[in-house]
Amino acid sequence: MLASIPTFALVGVDSREVTVEVDVRRGLPAFTLVGLPDAAVREARERVRAALLNSSLDFPLQRLTANLAPASMRKAGPSFDLALALGVLAASGQVPFEAVSGTAVCGELSLSGALRPFRGALATALGARAAGYERLIVPVENASEAALADGLEVLPVGSLQRLADLLHGRWRPEPARPRPAGNDTGPHAPDLADVRGQADAKRALEIAAAGGHNLLMVGPPGAGKTMVARRLPGILPPPSFDEALEITRIQGVAGLGDGRLAAERPFRAPHHTISPSGLVGGGSYPRPGEITLAHRGVLFLDEVAEFSRAALEALRQPLEDGFAEITRGQRSLTFPARTMLVAACNPCPCARPAGDCRCNDVDRLRYSRRLSGPLLDRIDLVCQAAAPPAAELVDRHGEALERSSVIRERVISARERQCHRLGGSGAYCNADMDGRLTRRHGALGDEAVERLLGSVEQGGLTGRGHDRVLRLARTIADLAGRPCISPTHLEEALGYRLASPVGIAA
Ligand SMILES: Nc1ncnc2c1ncn2[C@@H]1O[C@H](COP(=O)(O)OP(=O)(O)OP(=O)(O)O)[C@@H](O)[C@H]1O
Ligand SMILES: [Mg+2]
Repeated sequence: MLASIPTFALVGVDSREVTVEVDVRRGLPAFTLVGLPDAAVREARERVRAALLNSSLDFPLQRLTANLAPASMRKAGPSFDLALALGVLAASGQVPFEAVSGTAVCGELSLSGALRPFRGALATALGARAAGYERLIVPVENASEAALADGLEVLPVGSLQRLADLLHGRWRPEPARPRPAGNDTGPHAPDLADVRGQADAKRALEIAAAGGHNLLMVGPPGAGKTMVARRLPGILPPPSFDEALEITRIQGVAGLGDGRLAAERPFRAPHHTISPSGLVGGGSYPRPGEITLAHRGVLFLDEVAEFSRAALEALRQPLEDGFAEITRGQRSLTFPARTMLVAACNPCPCARPAGDCRCNDVDRLRYSRRLSGPLLDRIDLVCQAAAPPAAELVDRHGEALERSSVIRERVISARERQCHRLGGSGAYCNADMDGRLTRRHGALGDEAVERLLGSVEQGGLTGRGHDRVLRLARTIADLAGRPCISPTHLEEALGYRLASPVGIAA
């Protein structure tokens, strides 16, 4: 007899349907697996055999052939176990055929017959829904994440024995429901009120958070750059439902997250020794890189000048397009990468306080060249974070500084204005606007047009720089609650653009 069971395989951060066909016929006992399986999939035969026997079910002593279709796609990982076991049960007449129609399954098996969780439950559920399935059977641990896909019945099952009971109609689990979204920011989360001085860096951080712009902070050691950047999550707006689904799906594929809908935007801060493929994704079965794990959130590159040139250059395409295109062998995969880049570095290599610095102009120039021109061109705000003056650093009167919660309110209002304006365009914030949207929503008055014209004529702005300045000015106007961009807003945006990244390198 022949049975075919639908399941799903992860491809990047999406899932693709795979049909597991199992044929059972008389002959010498054998279990053959075809359809480009990798080592983990081939080992499924042993797990399936032991799991069936330990669940008081029969493993037919006949000739078994299993095919994973489409046969042209390479299959990796243990998540095909459950579909294979179910295929054997159906093809050997141990469960009724009708019971499995319209149902997809996914899960790993332990030798005892218990179901183990797999990675990418939400991506799988979204794939199953898109393919028109009504039900998805998954291990209990994956159920709440899979249930985030609306309009699909997700049935949590703990063991193979329970699955057989379900298909015989002897037992039916309660369909899974999503767990309420988590919220990790407690009262002890770092607050911008802890940072003394650094008014310019705080202003730049607020603008960057409001519009999702890229930011570079340059300053001497110990000025508070890392401190400011690490407080960004506290002022970021919460993700919208659609953004949260994207974040949760990616976290599920990467084995991060707790199965609940993400309540916060991701903040990823990889070490500077990271490889190019660690940053943008790669591997023989391509996996998402840090820029994808930071999708709809922040990628923080501290000490950015210490990252390898190859890693930084690999960021150029994803930063511009909002996705990373990875080609390995004959496969090409696209990973989402709409990320806000925040970077920090020193103005020179000696890392001594400004007064003690002995670096000469050549040292500084060489250091500044570690950041390529094209990468710097993608940074919307370059801000100098000088060491705060003594009067600001030393707290003599117990003066209370502005708290992150207050700044966040302003950021949220500015984002709401953007969402309202960009609704239906596919862009969520000003930084997401393409050239056409930028021109439509970044209209300037006569005076501001003259100022912008002057900047372009002086050679200070590239074509990309022109668009980025308009988007930044639009965000500054949104923060001020203004419908139009004024010359003052444009002036501030140009100031961030033209600031020299490293003292002498202008
Ligand atoms: N402006 C500031 N206000 C309050 N504390 C500060 C400030 N700047 C630095 N500090 C204190 O010094 C510590 C180190 O600061 P931080 O790591 O942010 O410096 P940095 O600018 O990133 O230096 P580096 O270039 O060496 O990485 C902070 O954890 C904080 O305790
Ligand atoms: Mg630092």
